[in-house]
Amino acid sequence: MIESIKETEKTFLSEISEVKDQKELEEVRIKYLSRKGIVALLFEKLKDVSREEKPVIGKELNLLKNLLEAKFLEVKEKVDEDTGKQKKKIDLTLPGREIKIGSKHILTQTLDEIKSIFKGLGFSVHEGPELESDYNNFEALNFQADHPARDMQDTFFVTKDFLLRTHTSPVQIRVMTNSQPPIRVIMPGKVFRNEAVSARSHCQFHQVEGLCIDTDISFAELKGTLVAFAKQFYGKDLKYRFRASFFPFTEPSAEMDITCFLCKGSGCRVCKNTGWLEILGCGMVDPNVLKAVGYDSEKYTGYAFGMGIERTGMLKYGLTDIRTYFDNDLRFLKQF
Ligand code: PHE
Repeated sequence: MIESIKETEKTFLSEISEVKDQKELEEVRIKYLSRKGIVALLFEKLKDVSREEKPVIGKELNLLKNLLEAKFLEVKEKVDEDTGKQKKKIDLTLPGREIKIGSKHILTQTLDEIKSIFKGLGFSVHEGPELESDYNNFEALNFQADHPARDMQDTFFVTKDFLLRTHTSPVQIRVMTNSQPPIRVIMPGKVFRNEAVSARSHCQFHQVEGLCIDTDISFAELKGTLVAFAKQFYGKDLKYRFRASFFPFTEPSAEMDITCFLCKGSGCRVCKNTGWLEILGCGMVDPNVLKAVGYDSEKYTGYAFGMGIERTGMLKYGLTDIRTYFDNDLRFLKQF
């Protein structure tokens, strides 16, 4: 018995001197000092010892227990202190944590670029409200009541006379009613149409409207301005064409196409095999519109144009689904 006590003391002391952390220390405690540990087993064996030997061995066992416990506490204190120090130690050579800041939404970036190009061409920026009167959105723009052209833009009516604007053209009316020529403005903003949401169309999107009114403004000036814009925005090697079209508030009217970004003109799914993509609508301001705002249509002429910002961005970056703009998916947003 005495042998086992001496042996236990020896192995315990050697094992605890090797301990490096709290986990190893706990292993040693369980092995020697727990309820089923070596020391407890030795105490159990005490009952088999003869009556004469019992006091001596009992005393030795108690000494062993006290010694082991004391040593355990001493080592525990040291290990606790070491791990505490490690926690506190700061490694000043570690690189700092990067602070992530947001970036502008791709629509805002696209609009910023469009604005900056037109500012360079002498245009200023003006905004109007999203809730509009039927008068500004249709009537003053030469869409008389029951004019079939109203069907071109499915409208969210709020009351009989008020609606969510279907295009940014009503801002033209606001600008012209409140100022006199010469006028050179672009008018960005949100517009709404009662359309089913799909990859190609949305019930809410953004447009940039342009308006120029002065004496002697010709279609050539309209073309020159839009070509200068398109070359800066899409690239100077751009191929384009103007196609005759119809809008009630412009006469003559046109749509501007550029070569399809995907097939480069040979025809594909995106351009519906035409090789061309429409980027905007435009035309010379109809004399009826000038009259509606009280301008002398003999003295002044002008042009207007309008383009969808989502569409413009989609063509520039080759996006195929308009819904991705509004999904707020970081995997999409982070690419820009
Ligand atoms: N407002 C027209 C639309 O939304 C675009 C346009 C603007 C056409 C100005 C001509 C002139 O379709």
